[in-house]
Amino acid sequence: MTMNSSPVLTHPLIVEGVRKDFRLRETIVPALKGVELFALPGEFIVIMGASGSGKSTLLHAMAGLTDVDAGRVVINGQDLSELNDVQLTKFRGEQIGLVFQAFNLLPNLTAEDNIRLPAPSGNAVNERIDELMQRLKIASRRSHKPGALSGGEQQRVAIARALVCDPAFLLADEPTGSLDYDAGQQICQLLYELSREQGRTIVAVTHEPNVAMWADRVVVMRDGVNVAEFTPCVSRDPQEVANQYQGLLRRPMEAV
Ligand SMILES: Nc1ncnc2c1ncn2[C@@H]1O[C@H](COP(=O)(O)OP(=O)(O)OP(=O)(O)O)[C@@H](O)[C@H]1O
Ligand SMILES: [Mg+2]
Repeated sequence: MTMNSSPVLTHPLIVEGVRKDFRLRETIVPALKGVELFALPGEFIVIMGASGSGKSTLLHAMAGLTDVDAGRVVINGQDLSELNDVQLTKFRGEQIGLVFQAFNLLPNLTAEDNIRLPAPSGNAVNERIDELMQRLKIASRRSHKPGALSGGEQQRVAIARALVCDPAFLLADEPTGSLDYDAGQQICQLLYELSREQGRTIVAVTHEPNVAMWADRVVVMRDGVNVAEFTPCVSRDPQEVANQYQGLLRRPMEAV
């Protein structure tokens, strides 16, 4: 994939019956208990759910970073379970951008070099890094190492790094977690534009209604399963999203 190619997902994202148990000595923690998710190319999906409901585990499964115990994940027509480790790493590098809950920046590299890390070298990459740093308002921090950046700046560096290879598919775990309201909204707007501009499919986890209000669809997780979903109203009203979400969570398990 070259830097100038537009990511075009021609197939939907399919998550089918995905189960994941973590085994801690004698204890089995069922983190995912049969998740079903379908996302169209260009959709911006937000996942909400209580702490421990399996959101991060699901993102890891979608990125092929966690072996699932049952079910399958299909991205852009490729069933991840059919790839060996080397193929999976290559596929991930080309197709999937990842922003983790912990930003995973390398402490000895500058912001710019952290962003550059997953990318091939070349002028097109330099231009893209410049563009991303402008768009994420971190251009003046390019020579700073992570220890000299604020939490929000580190978060934006992590987002730029996830986007540097122009992935068709972006997974973000709490991408606005340590940002103030305005900075968070700018990230949301960017994610929204990225889904619209190039048909990029975005799946973001958040606890915040004012992030979820940007989504095409909000998927609600509870105890390892996606139990419900809703479409935020077009006026992007965080209170409306909070009401819908809380209403769904209050319903008894059998009813959702
Ligand atoms: N590596 C692991 N080993 C054992 N249990 C794990 C592991 N990772 C997650 N879990 C457990 O799996 C469940 C789901 O965890 P997960 O991190 O997916 O939740 P989450 O919805 O992302 O929560 P949060 O909102 O706090 O980030 C939790 O009960 C958690 O303790
Ligand atoms: Mg999590």
